[in-house]
Amino acid sequence: MFNMANKKDKRELTDVLLSAQKLYKPSKEFQKNTNFPDYEKTLKTAAKNPLKFWEEAAEKLSWFQKWDQVLDDKNKPFYKWFVNGKCNLAYNALDRHIENNPKMHNKKAIIWEDETGRVRKFTYLELYKEVNKLVNAMKNSGVERGDRVAIYMPNIPEIVFAMLACAKIGAMHSVVYAGFSAKALADRIEDAQAKILFTADGSFRRGKIIDLKTIADDAVKQAKSVKKVIVVKNNNAKVNFNKKVDIWYNDFVKGFSDVAHCAEMDSEDPAFVLYTSGTTSKPKGVIHVHGGYAVNVLQTMEYVWDVKGDEIFWCTADPGWITGHSYIIYGPLLAGITTVMYEGMPDMPKPDRIWKVVEKHKVNVLYTAPTLIRAMMKYGAKWPQAHKMPTLRLLGSVGEPINPEAWKWYYKYVGKSKCPIMDTWWQTETGANMLTPLPSAPLKAGSACKPFPGIIADVVDKKGKSVPVGKGGYLIIRNQWPGMIRTIFNNPERYIKTYWSQVKGSYFAGDVAFKDKDGYFWIQGRTDDVLKVAGHRIGTAEVESSFVSHKAVVEAGVVGVPDPIKGEVIKAFIILTAKTKPSDELKMELKKHVRKEIGPVAVIKDIEFVEKLPKTRSGKIMRRVLKAKELGLPLGDTSSLV
Ligand code: WT7
Repeated sequence: MFNMANKKDKRELTDVLLSAQKLYKPSKEFQKNTNFPDYEKTLKTAAKNPLKFWEEAAEKLSWFQKWDQVLDDKNKPFYKWFVNGKCNLAYNALDRHIENNPKMHNKKAIIWEDETGRVRKFTYLELYKEVNKLVNAMKNSGVERGDRVAIYMPNIPEIVFAMLACAKIGAMHSVVYAGFSAKALADRIEDAQAKILFTADGSFRRGKIIDLKTIADDAVKQAKSVKKVIVVKNNNAKVNFNKKVDIWYNDFVKGFSDVAHCAEMDSEDPAFVLYTSGTTSKPKGVIHVHGGYAVNVLQTMEYVWDVKGDEIFWCTADPGWITGHSYIIYGPLLAGITTVMYEGMPDMPKPDRIWKVVEKHKVNVLYTAPTLIRAMMKYGAKWPQAHKMPTLRLLGSVGEPINPEAWKWYYKYVGKSKCPIMDTWWQTETGANMLTPLPSAPLKAGSACKPFPGIIADVVDKKGKSVPVGKGGYLIIRNQWPGMIRTIFNNPERYIKTYWSQVKGSYFAGDVAFKDKDGYFWIQGRTDDVLKVAGHRIGTAEVESSFVSHKAVVEAGVVGVPDPIKGEVIKAFIILTAKTKPSDELKMELKKHVRKEIGPVAVIKDIEFVEKLPKTRSGKIMRRVLKAKELGLPLGDTSSLV
């Protein structure tokens, strides 16, 4: 992300403007072989009739009963897609492949590898049987359609089994990223009132075991709705076992049939809830549904990821984020291709681990985040240069703006100047890629290109009026799309207020962007108090409230400051109680405290003790002013400052 007034970022802005002039075009040969070789024509056709585009997309899935209306927009903003259609997300990701095509039985669904070099592979038939056993075991434990199931697991095959089993039963999964703390997990379990929790003994990180079970135990003590904890034995760590609630995964499924009933869900029945950070200290439970989500994700697999039937697809995200939901699990499986899962650090044991995994498992599409690319850049180009990676065809980037320098490095050294980069802008709320090139598009280093077919995006001012070319403004989506968020769990008012109250009739994304003369979008970052630290979404208010829960802290103001690798890191301004003496030890203690409250995902880079915080008359902390001071920038409009 760049900030136009910042010195270092000024250079980046110049970079962006310069690179905006250069087009990276796919070779004729490559373009001819893409699913949609004529980029502009593809966009135009969809734009003529977006509902037809999405209806044709829906026809690619299996339905128990066909819809009688594509989009119902009577009760805005509670839109409904594929009205009265009956379907199931897991059925489309798995069962239909098994039922319709014997050739799919022996095809690899999952290739998993971990940091220590263990490899596990599952064919579609094996995956199907694993999921069915789990469905039967869960039902036997009282999990029913409409229930919520919490999942706090590493990136291992069992997380896929658990998610698909939930969807097949019609229970909603709520996956909580394993980098969150016990308290964060407990809050999410409580909000969703989850009945059971899936976890694992541990996970390997840089050779160390992360003890997930202990964190899960702590969470279960606080969250009373959980009646059973199912524990995967992933690395034989010694863990506490409470026989009353805990059961090993293998014992849980033992003896159950590998054939199971699939629930016929309504298109609009929720498939899952996924918590994400907003502007208050309470995370939002984003709801996605069985019908539209599946349709939208599959459509992006075909258009953006150019899937033709036999790809090996590797998305390096974690299943705990939407990127993992849509592009480790549902996207590849809906498309019937092979997904690669890697559990561990990208530079273990050496900085070429990523490139080795690509070569070893013959990866065709690599989808990763700018922060990872920048971390790899630091090790030097010699690492990817030492690997030919001949199977790579397409690259992807997601999570935060990719700076042109990182883009070019990725293109040259990883893609060997022949793999187009799909810089995909989207959000937990959008479900699938929204602003993105297609493989046939001419690319610009650092731009997320244009809206996906069928999507109408714009950059507007406070009144919702389009701003001129090159001018920054709010990113909005003018129409609806099937993968869109349906509501916030138990909080429809917040859904309306957050997304549909800023610009009438349009979805408010919370990002700032500008469009260039060719209609390419350049994302500049968030407008609200949401941070992207190494691509992870964290709310400033969440971090502030965890600081304030420490007895030495009276008030806290938290801002994101630019970082060359992580994109953004957290800096906190803290007011201590009158009797507390500031010290470096206290800084350490506060950092630890936040880590305990939120989890390792919220790393505090720096703490400064202050006497006062800049505030508005109504008492709101002006983070903008804190940030400007931190970066040595002009303070801007301070008329509301007291
Ligand atoms: C925010 C959403 C679903 C994607 C993973 C993160 C930022 C995401 C890009 C991109 C510039 C991006 C935005 C967005 N973002 N992708 N390609 N270029 N910014 O999902 O955690 O819900 O975060 O990530 O600021 O609003 P998320």
